[in-house]
Amino acid sequence: AWKRNSKGGKLPPGPTPIPFLGNVLQVRTDATFQSFMKLREKYGPIFTVYMGPRPVVVLCGHEAVKEALVDRADEFSGRGELASIERNFQGHGVALANGERWRILRRFSLTILRDFGMGKRSIEERIQEEAGFLLEELRKTKGSPIEPTFFLSRTVSNVISSVVFGSRFDYEDKQFLKLLQMINESFIEMSTPWAQLYDMYSGIMQYLPGRHNRIYYLIEELKDFIASRVKINEASLDPQNPRDFIDCFLIKMHQDTNNPHTEFNLKNLVLTTLNLFFAGTETVSSTLRYGLLLMMKHPEVEAKIHEEIDQVIGPHRIPSVDDRAKMPYTDAVIHEIQRLTDIVPMGVPHNVIRDTHFRGYLLPKGTDVFPLLGSVLKDPKYFRYPDAFYPQHFLDEQGRFKKNEAFVPFSSGKRICLGEAMARMELFLYFTSILQNFSLHSLVPPADIDITPRVSGFGNIPPTYELCLKAR
Ligand code: HEM
Repeated sequence: AWKRNSKGGKLPPGPTPIPFLGNVLQVRTDATFQSFMKLREKYGPIFTVYMGPRPVVVLCGHEAVKEALVDRADEFSGRGELASIERNFQGHGVALANGERWRILRRFSLTILRDFGMGKRSIEERIQEEAGFLLEELRKTKGSPIEPTFFLSRTVSNVISSVVFGSRFDYEDKQFLKLLQMINESFIEMSTPWAQLYDMYSGIMQYLPGRHNRIYYLIEELKDFIASRVKINEASLDPQNPRDFIDCFLIKMHQDTNNPHTEFNLKNLVLTTLNLFFAGTETVSSTLRYGLLLMMKHPEVEAKIHEEIDQVIGPHRIPSVDDRAKMPYTDAVIHEIQRLTDIVPMGVPHNVIRDTHFRGYLLPKGTDVFPLLGSVLKDPKYFRYPDAFYPQHFLDEQGRFKKNEAFVPFSSGKRICLGEAMARMELFLYFTSILQNFSLHSLVPPADIDITPRVSGFGNIPPTYELCLKAR
């Protein structure tokens, strides 16, 4: 693992590691991102840290991240190690795959998401219908305090569920709630100091008992659930009439039975479906959960959104994606929510697929790379008030929507989030549907609302809170 000079080039500079233990003295497991920000002050936008014995090249700020993920897209397109879930995935499933396996699974997944979007019923219609069910549930609360987590994740999860499983779940379904609790808990577990410690010392810790094993069992249980759905699909499969993502994958598997090297196998089916189900649920619902909290902290922003909704959509019509172009303020607020809440602050680890000369350094093939998306989203060169909630970051003087190239919550380049289009549609439709019908009321005064994440690691997990929704 000590490759500094092995190929006649150098890794970027960084703090001196302790053999095997790496940079444990510089990288705090309870504040990994902040530790990286400190190292950046000393070493600049690109440096090397040893996560245990493993060297990782860290990229900070818009310029360095773009130069790698976009300008050198191919070299940086590999997936690095996500230690906390590697035991479950072992390089399978689209999100953690590499090479030909990744290319095949990514192309296939994108095609299916698109086809189901253009089929009998568009993704937009599915979201609109699902938002309707959510509004019904929210009305039942009659303005009394609720904890929003599972209100939001049930409705969001049903959108991707209808694509991968062919149908939505009933909100009363106990098994559904249990799955969502496991997904929610996994995302939190992946963000604890334990997971960060495991990321450094998985070589040893995987053999030790302890809290870090919790994720493993959670993900295994989610895998079992998907595998049982695959069996049900298989038993009733009609190759002429695929009902969902699983059916389409099964059809490919049957066509490829004679190819021993095919990537259309059961392992990739279960794990790709799990990637879509997990990523399609927790990211969007965490963002909405954080977004509603930010609205309560900034009631003047909520008021302006109400005004824009009343002008463009009115009180009765169901919001549609076409409304977005006419609602620059709301669009800017949603961008600002994603920017500030920064759901995946360190990105998902990348890896260079060949020896890569970059900014005068040499990253040997197989070196892991962390593109710190949070440092791009808060790059002071691109955002006037990086740490403030300031929707004007995305508005010009005339109040028109203004793009910003450092807006990268979905990352960029060849690994860019596969569900970006779906996610953006969901965020807009849910957000406007909720605010068209309700005003939000906090149990504490806006100034006292603390927006610090509950835990910050792989994810920034929003704080737990309650709110009241009053019909408008
Ligand atoms: C990958 C963010 C919603 C499926 C990613 C990555 C990020 C991300 C940062 C890593 C990209 C990289 O490797 O550089 C988000 C955010 C979302 C969201 C912020 C919502 C607000 C979704 C949805 C789906 C999804 C709705 C499913 C339909 C995936 C998949 C990958 C991925 C499959 C792996 C892609 C690959 O490795 O090629 N996402 N995502 N995501 N996302 Fe999302």
